[in-house]
Amino acid sequence: GLFCRFLKLNILNLSSDQITLRQPDDWHVHLRDGETLGSIVKHTSRVFRRAVVMPNLDPPITSIELAKNYRERILKTVPADIAFTPLMTAYLTDNLPIDVLVDGFREGVFIGAKLYPVNATTNSSYGVSDIHAIDVLLEAMERIDMPLLIHGEVTDLDVDIFDREAVFIEQKLEPMLRRFPKIRVVLEHITTLQAVQFVETSGFRLAATITPHHLHINRNAMFAGGLRSDFYCLPVVKREIHRLALRKAATSGKSCFFLGTDSAPHLRAYKETACACAGIFNAPYAIESYAEIFEEENALDRLEAFASEYGPAFYGLGLNKSSITLERKKHIVPKMLELGTSGNLKESVVPFHAGETLSWRILKN
Ligand code: DOR
Ligand code: ZN
Repeated sequence: GLFCRFLKLNILNLSSDQITLRQPDDWHVHLRDGETLGSIVKHTSRVFRRAVVMPNLDPPITSIELAKNYRERILKTVPADIAFTPLMTAYLTDNLPIDVLVDGFREGVFIGAKLYPVNATTNSSYGVSDIHAIDVLLEAMERIDMPLLIHGEVTDLDVDIFDREAVFIEQKLEPMLRRFPKIRVVLEHITTLQAVQFVETSGFRLAATITPHHLHINRNAMFAGGLRSDFYCLPVVKREIHRLALRKAATSGKSCFFLGTDSAPHLRAYKETACACAGIFNAPYAIESYAEIFEEENALDRLEAFASEYGPAFYGLGLNKSSITLERKKHIVPKMLELGTSGNLKESVVPFHAGETLSWRILKN
């Protein structure tokens, strides 16, 4: 694809026990809202300088005013000594006014707009019924070069859940790109070999984010000795061949693949229930989790490009000037984290890699 290039790789410091990277950004994250907002933001802003914040609140972010207020609430939780910039997204609906997108993008409130097919995932009931329903919005986005961020799954219940991404690409994405060949698109949290190949080879202005969990686990993780909702997310993790394709893509050095965690915390009670929510909370150890993958793939020298350079290049933003240092030091991830309080209730959430040993940790920012 047009965004698949090998850009220059110059890692700041890469020794066997330390890596210093340009400070990374998270190009896809769920920060939620309300009482737990501050403790969730803390995990992301610990490492990431900027983050593209998903708009799937209830009600969703469908106006400039809602986005500005949400951004203010996020920023209010960030301590003065931490530099963190939330980049806001608009939630596309069938009847979102064009002006919301055009004005919101021109005013610098929105970095892009997110397309959730209706009922594809958490808080997507206000989403788009059919891509054709928003053709006027897509036409405007193409014209002003506003990035379109896509949750790429069909929601047709007759389509097997493991095939929903591949079917979306073939039946929805490719035809849409033919109608709007100049639109700038991020296919978010890709999970399949088909997505990797499409992003690499289609001639469109297309890039993709890849999460830590889709690089670490395959669908067996959801069924290891019982039903494990901690490993349930959307798009659902797939077979091993897909995980291997994603690992190859993420560590390829190609600029069309960059970091987006899709960190999506759900409180324990909503995971330990008959109908568990989709989402994996990986923000607390996200960069450490990616480092593990890049080391296993013998590609630590490409981590910086994936984490800190290709995202800004796609969005046309400057690179961060600050840096972070990771040191090789084994540490055990806590089994549970607390996310502030709601009344007298302690709100706990299980982080990705809970109870596992990771080999890199943050030394300093
Ligand atoms: O697993 C997911 N969780 N996938 C999504 O698309 C949404 C997210 C959430 O908001 O919980
Ligand atoms: Zn997401």
